[in-house]
Amino acid sequence: MEVKNTIKDLKASVALARQNGSRIGLVPTMGALHQGHLSLVKRACSECDFVVVSIFVNPTQFNNAEDLKTYPRTLEEDLRLLSENANVDVVFAPSVEEIYPQPDTRQFELGKLAEVMEGRYRPGHFNGVAQIVSKLFMFVEPDKAFFGEKDFQQLAIIRQLVKNLNFSIEIVGCPIVRYMDGLAVSSRNTLLTEEQRAIAPIIQATLRRSVEEMQYKMKPSEVVDWVTNTLNKIQPLQMEYYSIVDGITLQPVNSWEESDYVVGCITCYCGKVRLIDNITYKKSI
Ligand code: PAJ
Repeated sequence: MEVKNTIKDLKASVALARQNGSRIGLVPTMGALHQGHLSLVKRACSECDFVVVSIFVNPTQFNNAEDLKTYPRTLEEDLRLLSENANVDVVFAPSVEEIYPQPDTRQFELGKLAEVMEGRYRPGHFNGVAQIVSKLFMFVEPDKAFFGEKDFQQLAIIRQLVKNLNFSIEIVGCPIVRYMDGLAVSSRNTLLTEEQRAIAPIIQATLRRSVEEMQYKMKPSEVVDWVTNTLNKIQPLQMEYYSIVDGITLQPVNSWEESDYVVGCITCYCGKVRLIDNITYKKSI
């Protein structure tokens, strides 16, 4: 496993691999790697001959300076985890100056996909994601790129971005990795106190209940209210939003029959920690 800090060095390694006929895989990350990231990396290693993992805390997708400052940076530990658990060829770990020699003023037209949910509560976030991901795609030109379904809206937006910019890249969506108690694995979980960590799995348990018990008794909007009220009663949970949406367009559905792919997307604070998760109600596509 080689670590590259410059775009020039990264491109040289990838060019050599491509000359040898390798299928190139890319896994973009912001580091603080955990089992969720590793599942993407392992999938990439199983489907590609040459795998690049990028580790870059992208400033343009943070709309909160404090969040950017406190985002965990654990490069040494990340490199150890990767070398011990997967067969990665290149880790790309550039500086901010390397990626953004000038401020990136590009505005991406992401349409309605980016207006709802995270787009509403984190203005500019997805434009920043599109800036960095489009750059990484230009540097590596991978055959396949791997993203987690945990960030459900991000995955949908990346698929749209690939279409809009005419990239010939297959986007592979990977299932959410969870702890035994149902909590989605996330870098932010380390910020939870012991007490909050014990409560956080209630979020997924409540979503599960809404699939198993509520779905056929209530309309989607009633399920949204039920989930919101149930979670808001539990200290220190505080809902930001719960939306039941079409899995492709991400627009809210009014009935279960309206779409063949229905997903519930949640953002809920546990104390000061912002947790995101989702659940599938229906997938018959
Ligand atoms: P980051 O939060 O580091 O996540 C990197 C990738 O890991 C994303 O595709 C995310 O969906 C996936 N991931 C995180 N936790 C997961 C879990 N529990 N199960 C499955 N996949 C999981 O997402 C970003 O970074 C950035 O926005 C990025 C795309 C790198 C652009 O900066």
